Amino acid sequence: MSKLVRFGVSLEQELLTKFDRLIKARNYTNRSEAIRDLIREELVEREWQTSGEIAGAITIVYDHHCRDLGNKLTDIQHDFLNIIISTQHLHLDHHNCLEILAIKGSAKKAQKLANILQSVKGVKHATLSMTGTGKI
Ligand code: NI
Repeated sequence: MSKLVRFGVSLEQELLTKFDRLIKARNYTNRSEAIRDLIREELVEREWQTSGEIAGAITIVYDHHCRDLGNKLTDIQHDFLNIIISTQHLHLDHHNCLEILAIKGSAKKAQKLANILQSVKGVKHATLSMTGTGKI
């Protein structure tokens, strides 16, 4: 861990009150921790925009009784081998399956893969969650 540096921040009382309410709602124990995370969040977003590199997860829920759906989803995933680093399949109930794809690579490709999976008939829900690659 690098050396901690203290610095002062001046802002309007009203803004600080709102900030304190926000960090309380998010369960932060102090302002420093909240400010650190906000700065990192901003830097991570900049990392996506400049280098385009992300890590993340795509989560999909689908009915495995849908004709050929499992095969279709597997075919699509084989087209995105370079960004999928791991997959996990869970049987939610008699009909529904949950699949979690861990991804690392281009943000654009991740978004494209999530969109394609979402659009397949029988896929009930798909989400894409992106974060930084840990370099920041
Ligand atoms: Ni299943």
